[in-house]
Amino acid sequence: MLRRTLLASALAIPALAACATATSGARDPLAPLPLDTSSHARPEIARVTHVSLDLTADFERKVMRGKATLSIAARDDAREIVLDSLNLVIHRVSAGGAETTYTLGESRPSLGAPLTIALNGARTVEIEYESGPDAASLQWLTPAQTASNKPFLFSQGQSILNRTWIPTQDSPGIRQTYDARIVAPEGLKVVMSAEMLTPEGEPLGDGQRAFRFRMPQPIPPYLIAIGIGDLVHRATGPRTGVYAEPSVVERGAYECADMERMMDVAEALYGPYRWGRYDVLILPPSFPYGGMENPRLTFLTPTFLAGDRSLVSLVAHELAHSWSGNLVTNAVWADGWLNEGFTSYIEGRIGEALFGEENARMAEALAWADIQTALTTVTPDGQRLHWVGEVDANDNSSAITYDKGALFLRTIERIVGRTRLDTYLRSYFDRYAFQPMTTQHFLADFRQHVVRGDAALEAQLLLDQWAYEPGIPSNAQAPVATGFNDIPGHIEAFIAGGPPAAAPWEHWNTMQRQRYLQTLPRELSATQLRDLEAAFGLDDIGNMEVRFDWLSLAIANSFEPSSAAIERFLSEQGRGKFIRPLYRALMQRGEWGQALARRTYAHARDGYHPIVAAAVDRILAA
Ligand code: BES
Ligand code: ZN
Repeated sequence: MLRRTLLASALAIPALAACATATSGARDPLAPLPLDTSSHARPEIARVTHVSLDLTADFERKVMRGKATLSIAARDDAREIVLDSLNLVIHRVSAGGAETTYTLGESRPSLGAPLTIALNGARTVEIEYESGPDAASLQWLTPAQTASNKPFLFSQGQSILNRTWIPTQDSPGIRQTYDARIVAPEGLKVVMSAEMLTPEGEPLGDGQRAFRFRMPQPIPPYLIAIGIGDLVHRATGPRTGVYAEPSVVERGAYECADMERMMDVAEALYGPYRWGRYDVLILPPSFPYGGMENPRLTFLTPTFLAGDRSLVSLVAHELAHSWSGNLVTNAVWADGWLNEGFTSYIEGRIGEALFGEENARMAEALAWADIQTALTTVTPDGQRLHWVGEVDANDNSSAITYDKGALFLRTIERIVGRTRLDTYLRSYFDRYAFQPMTTQHFLADFRQHVVRGDAALEAQLLLDQWAYEPGIPSNAQAPVATGFNDIPGHIEAFIAGGPPAAAPWEHWNTMQRQRYLQTLPRELSATQLRDLEAAFGLDDIGNMEVRFDWLSLAIANSFEPSSAAIERFLSEQGRGKFIRPLYRALMQRGEWGQALARRTYAHARDGYHPIVAAAVDRILAA
């Protein structure tokens, strides 16, 4: 059954044209791209090929200000270029060095306004500007919000936030190289998702320091990223290391000790790591994601520092994006599963190589359970890998984009064999390195190189159903995780009145503990909850994934004794994946939950990243 969506049919020819140029050498800088409804750019006329930033981080006013110089590839008859901008304050624009005219169109929420600049025959434009107040991509932290009691700034570009601090074409299909000179107050270090040309910076003699960077490989603009703070570096191997505030860096280096081996595993599977170094930056606790795969410099939440390396699959995931996402990139966000689903699959492969098959099966079983939940809670439209129409981004659960995407690849693996899929994926990353990708083009490429007209194989794979339909196709198989075998028995014994301490909690790993907490009945008595908490110290458990699962259970039962622990958890970190569901759950628990949510939010909101705060605003207003 061949599904042709509006978007998919519009792509058919352009995406395949890109393939032809890949084998014949240099890529056409104006190669056709699918329409990105999240950008104002008109890349068929003129597109940005290089961004040169010369900016000062003004911690007093909380703005980035300075100049962006853009290099442009354009049709001979192009009169103008259209950029994305959201709340930028534009001071002056020139083209080829001469002042030119520009217009800022009507601004739409999230999308921002088109910034249209007359080219007058030039192929560079210079924009003097500053970021607006409350730029959604930037979080300016006060000294009190950091470990070292110094100011801190970090950016988060994905998906369409970078237009709040960089005036460029903010579309993942429009790849751009970049360089930057960033001025920051003396005493702080600037790091970026690029080669660091001046690790210590250059003193300017006025209490400030300038840092320079260079990213020579073309990247989608959501991967331009910056961090500024009291940062030090610890090597974890010849190519890898950790940046963090001084009091965090040792713990960070301990947790990340496996990074060099992870790189070796990924390279053996999918070909050379093409970005030079791989460092991670551990951010203050308000970082809104688990991780962000900024090239050469993954950004990480400090909530993964469990002290026992039990949450390093996060690092494997972000590292895997060095192939799926950063090298071959979803051309439009409707195909986000090409980034996240592939990456979750590779994350699993790295984990399997490092920590064994049993561990891998347990991770797959947890993901399988999340998919099952999504099938009952997410609208059918939100269950498609390739999004169609106006899918509400909030409806699009990560269990689909990430876990269904990975399950699709594992299903292919089971049917065609691991060797065949590995060989194919390696060739895919080589063939499309530094290029955008669409679902339709991936399927065409897979058919060309693997299915090759084999009708029986085609019928077995159900490729179009996986990519374009809601639900999970019939050829998916539930993972068998023997490490979880005993858990139902321990739960039954506890429900029958046995003490929770009868379960071998101390011998369980993080995933077994999560499985136990996630599969306990959602309705428990206050006595049962008190016994659980007392047996395992759940209110204070250092592992944030486990504590999240516990507090979810506590909230589902309006378990008052954990109120303080809930408030603390929601105040000491700002990771959206933890914050949003807990506020949502609290708001469904009547008087107790709503009062706790409002009381906590009143003082915690200031610590949250703008995008998390905006989401919680909506949850509390509903
Ligand atoms: N690229 C994502 C983070 C992201 C997704 C940012 C969507 C903005 C919009 C990153 O690679 C990611 O998936 N992070 C996960 C961790 C992972 C182990 C599932 C996260 O932040 O929880
Ligand atoms: Zn990811």
